[in-house]
Amino acid sequence: MKRPVAYVAGTGRGIPAKVMTNHDFAALGLETSHEWIVERTGIVERRIASADETTCMMAATAARQAMTRAGVQPGELDAIVLSTATPDRLLPSTAVDLQAQLGAKRAAAFDLSAACTGWLYGMTVAEGLIHSGVVETALVVGSEKMSAIVDWQDRSTCVLFGDGAGAVVLKRGATTSQRGILSSFMRSDGTLAELLWRPAGGAAVPFSESVLADRSSYVKMAGREVFKHAVRQMSEACDRALDGAKLTGSDIDVLIPHQANNRIIEATAKHAGIPMDKVYVNVDRFGNTSSASIPIALDEAIERGRVREGTTALFCAFGAGFTWGSMVVRF
Ligand code: ACO
Repeated sequence: MKRPVAYVAGTGRGIPAKVMTNHDFAALGLETSHEWIVERTGIVERRIASADETTCMMAATAARQAMTRAGVQPGELDAIVLSTATPDRLLPSTAVDLQAQLGAKRAAAFDLSAACTGWLYGMTVAEGLIHSGVVETALVVGSEKMSAIVDWQDRSTCVLFGDGAGAVVLKRGATTSQRGILSSFMRSDGTLAELLWRPAGGAAVPFSESVLADRSSYVKMAGREVFKHAVRQMSEACDRALDGAKLTGSDIDVLIPHQANNRIIEATAKHAGIPMDKVYVNVDRFGNTSSASIPIALDEAIERGRVREGTTALFCAFGAGFTWGSMVVRF
């Protein structure tokens, strides 16, 4: 029996107004330079949320835009899947705050934690809910206030990240429709969790004066190790999604990878056989916004005409966990 398709009906983004350039790190007393950051990562600037700008607020801006473009009212949402590594509080979820802000009275709402791969995981979960018949219309959001969890005294991590949100309305389509999610792939390897993590501040090592003093609630990363795994797993992810859709790199009109680092993006595109002029890159302007990075890039790509009706897009991501995943979508 042919399954109903899940298709992207609208996208949106919620971006903080404040721009922080590479030059601004000097004011924090950090020994770094614009040249070092650009050469290693491609990042020129990132957006930083203000103190009272929350993960939920950025998510709501992105969600409202996506719903307007999809022509969907809040009361029509059956599910809200919000991926975040930076929930506004630990209980309850940020997704329920979003549900309340939107007035999505019929929607189930939950957070999903898979770091930078979270939005792709969320899309796959929402697609499954649509296939099961439980859900007809889902909102899938990636929203991150990374500036709240990075250590602003650690130059090896704080220069990499930024804040923002991206959202997609995913709807059930006819089984005969040519557009929609064509394939998806998800993997994880928790044996490598400590290469990119926040050691303290959770239930195992709750907040205490010593946690605050040793800064162990902030993001720690073994950059070189993460880099190696990211290239390998993003490449594998591209292969698996292409296999699943019975396509090759030459069938892809646009690759929208997780925006962590230009060098990782270039290596991934090369492996997939996709030239860089078919790769959407905005890491230079936003840095790594974790699970928000792909939906922000997708929304921009649509706005700039890089994704339109008939476009076949490949998404791939890698993040803390480790987690990685990919998806082919026809628009
Ligand atoms: N400015 C100047 N120097 C720096 C900075 C900085 N901001 N950060 C580190 N350095 C120094 C280090 O201290 C080190 O100095 P040393 O040789 O005297 O010890 C030197 O630069 C080299 O450090 P490395 O960490 O080996 O530098 P590398 O070339 O590997 O680049 C980087 C570091 C950019 C972090 C790289 O490893 C990387 O991109 N890793 C992947 C990180 C990533 O993208 N993570 C997110 C992906 S997963 C996700 O999205 C959640």
